[in-house]
Amino acid sequence: MRGIDGPALRRASKESDLFTEPSFSRGVHFKGRHGPFFQASHKRRERYIMRTLALLTSLSCAAVLASVPGSAQISGGSGLQSPSAFASIADPAARSRALFTEAAKVIMNPRCMNCHPASDRPTQGNDMHQHSPPVTRGNNGTGVAGNTCSACHTDRNFTLVERSSYGSIPGHPRWGLAPIEMAWEGKSIGQICLQIKDPNRNGGRNLALLTEHAASDDLIAWGWAPGAGRDPAPGTQELFGQLIKAWIDTGAQCP
Ligand code: HEC
Ligand code: HEC
Repeated sequence: MRGIDGPALRRASKESDLFTEPSFSRGVHFKGRHGPFFQASHKRRERYIMRTLALLTSLSCAAVLASVPGSAQISGGSGLQSPSAFASIADPAARSRALFTEAAKVIMNPRCMNCHPASDRPTQGNDMHQHSPPVTRGNNGTGVAGNTCSACHTDRNFTLVERSSYGSIPGHPRWGLAPIEMAWEGKSIGQICLQIKDPNRNGGRNLALLTEHAASDDLIAWGWAPGAGRDPAPGTQELFGQLIKAWIDTGAQCP
């Protein structure tokens, strides 16, 4: 096991300072009394992340390497049909079910499922293994005091310069787990379908709001821009939104 203070880490921290300076340290925009503080706290956070990563890498390198790069169930980047591909299904109810099944290629993709777990712990990677290190959802899905998601997941994907089993740490300003009533892990397509259109379990959305959410929510958008080293969800968010709309227009039937 490599020591976490080894030469590799020192090199990596230095490179990461150089590499991330312009984009990561938003502090440069804050001249005056906030400037130095901002930069210092970003530096601290960077150091914290690099330390954590070095530890993770040294502990679980072999295991994670075996499971990550493009290995598993994903069938390539595009792989999503548009609603017109289902036009030949004459019966609207049957067409509706087929449309949802197509949209579920996105919903049940690991990029989405990893944040919609049935437990209090997110999952990671294409094989949807338990998040390492252990983290827990807390009251609003963003972690608990002392172990918040944002300690590691910043407001954007963070590309790593050090060689690691994954190329980047995912990021988004609202990074956190979907509420437990929106859990998808372990459920069938039919169960997820019923849940997604149930306002008691979908955040109080009617079908129109659900379409809009699917088509334009910027957290969902992360699924198609998940950062270096991670396979994107199939198709595009636009196409996904069109499928959801077509599913609703045909009566929102569940498979
Ligand atoms: C100590 C640092 C750390 C904390 C805290 C942390 N994460 Fe992570 N998380 C990571 C790293 C590093 C990765 C990338 C690992 C990988 O891709 O294999 C990751 C990956 C993920 C992924 C997988 C993305 C994918 O599709 O593969 C999800 C989901 C996730 N984290 C959610 C969360 C949530 C939600 C929280 C808070 C409750 C959280 N994380 C807290 C470090 C952390
Ligand atoms: C970083 C974690 C995260 C990722 C990744 C993520 N979600 Fe979510 N999702 C959430 C959170 C948090 C909510 C609740 C917020 C809300 O309702 O606006 C949510 C809510 C939803 C909802 C509305 C509620 C429901 O269940 O009907 C849909 C639809 C949804 N997500 C779809 C997706 C899809 C599709 C993907 C992948 C392309 C995805 N999500 C990836 C965290 C995530």
